Amino acid sequence: MKDLTKRPAWKALSAHCKKIKPLHLRKLFAADPKRGQRMTLEAAGLFLDYSKNRITDKTIQLLLQLAEESGLRERIDAMFSGAKINITENRAVLHVALRAPKGATILVDGKNVVPEVHAVLDKMSAFANRVRSGDWKGFTGKPIKNVVNIGIGGSDLGPVMAYEALKYYSQRDLVFRFVSNVDGMDFVEATQGLNPAETLFIVSSKTFTTMETMTNAESARAWLLRGLGGDAKAVAKHFVAVSTNAEKVSKFGIDTANMFGFWDWVGGRYSMDSAIGLSSMIALGPDNFRTMLDGFHQMDEHFRAAPFAKNLPVLMGLLTLWYADFFDAQTVAVLPYENYLKRFPAYLQQLTMESNGKSVTLGGKPVNYETSPIYWGEPGTNGQHSFYQLIHQGTHLIPCDFIAFANALAPLGRHHDILLANVLAQSEALAFGKTAEQVRAEGVSAALVPHKVFEGNRPSNTILADRLTPEVLGKLVALYEHSVFTQGVLWSINPFDQWGVELGKALAQAIIPELESPANPKLTHDSSTNNLIKRYRKMRAAV
Ligand code: F6P
Repeated sequence: MKDLTKRPAWKALSAHCKKIKPLHLRKLFAADPKRGQRMTLEAAGLFLDYSKNRITDKTIQLLLQLAEESGLRERIDAMFSGAKINITENRAVLHVALRAPKGATILVDGKNVVPEVHAVLDKMSAFANRVRSGDWKGFTGKPIKNVVNIGIGGSDLGPVMAYEALKYYSQRDLVFRFVSNVDGMDFVEATQGLNPAETLFIVSSKTFTTMETMTNAESARAWLLRGLGGDAKAVAKHFVAVSTNAEKVSKFGIDTANMFGFWDWVGGRYSMDSAIGLSSMIALGPDNFRTMLDGFHQMDEHFRAAPFAKNLPVLMGLLTLWYADFFDAQTVAVLPYENYLKRFPAYLQQLTMESNGKSVTLGGKPVNYETSPIYWGEPGTNGQHSFYQLIHQGTHLIPCDFIAFANALAPLGRHHDILLANVLAQSEALAFGKTAEQVRAEGVSAALVPHKVFEGNRPSNTILADRLTPEVLGKLVALYEHSVFTQGVLWSINPFDQWGVELGKALAQAIIPELESPANPKLTHDSSTNNLIKRYRKMRAAV
């Protein structure tokens, strides 16, 4: 296959974007009164309005052609069939198998993995029900009241996001806390006020070697034993593990009977619907968790089967590429108008940037185009009173994904209409702005006119769903997962490894003894790092 920039569609897009850039969305809408109805897509219950993008039908046609020329169809089929598409780790990429219905067949190395997936789900369900009902007793015979998930990255961000997003459906007499940071205060705050006799720790780590998680798990064990009189037998009643590494789990002292497994073909950032979601399942109950999986699966099927022109994740992935590569847009803002989705942008940051923050192709050659943009965001309307100023009038082009729901989970007076009026107003303001003539017509003084002009022509997508249910959350996450996949395929990069996190980890391991050593260690770093280490050793209080 030709390098991306040599493909005919890329060349055509390079020429085409020169024609599109001077066009204003005002003109595009004026020329096509049906644009707002036409440039929409509905799939699996999610409605996407992409009309407020700086595109024409020709743009979409060329982007779709680029997807074809990039072999997207074959890559999708390869992923779903269990091929080892994570070539730098020689692994299949099968998060789609985590939500495949019972009875489906997905082969990895000739073995159907779906029965194993369902066996783990059943084991999780039985355990979750025991904790939820009070049947699972702690070491002193008290039922569990507090569930603390210890994990980081994909072993934290998904569980936290899902818990926050679906808190409305959670069992309210259980307390859920999440510890991720190796900063000890994260652990201290997460266990503040908890009774060890009523606390269950879920140690979530795919590898069971991650420094942050293991440090926190050791502190948790010490905290528990301190609180329960020091009998090591207490660990079995208060610790369970979620991991792919049974050996390390058992070495830590957790009975592997209390381990919930998953597989090397589940990437950390694609694991919230595996056993890593155990805390979510305890919070929501097995039925809601399975409904969420069904939502994921519906989007998977749509992605796998729908023609690209009607394929939600494909379209969103292509639009992201359009701005990143042809408009030099460096970021994408994800702006959910649903307070429960407050951790959704943070979750997406790992999903998108750990996946596609790459600069070499699958063949190991440096890319000569931009790859993943920076994802960021906050829920509306809060962001409107913070950073939206820059999106409206700053010098950066920031494509926005607005996410909104037609119905509130618990309607409260006029709140929801006001919330929705705001999300609609924002995308309208961004697209159409306000001209100098309009500002002058309001009687604004000449000196102030330039300050009050909104240039507009700032692109956005609006995703509208019925209400935030477990099923809809599954669909939303799968939508972004497959959009990221689409981008990765077109950029010819591997979205499923993360070598970029290794160097810092290794250097930290070398620095730890240099900070802790009682004797003055011989430092062989650069002069800045050496100096900072010396400063730290001088400044820190004796422990
Ligand atoms: O940050 C690197 C990373 O490997 C992530 O990809 C992963 O989600 C996270 O660390 C946690 O890894 P583990 O689940 O093995 O503790």
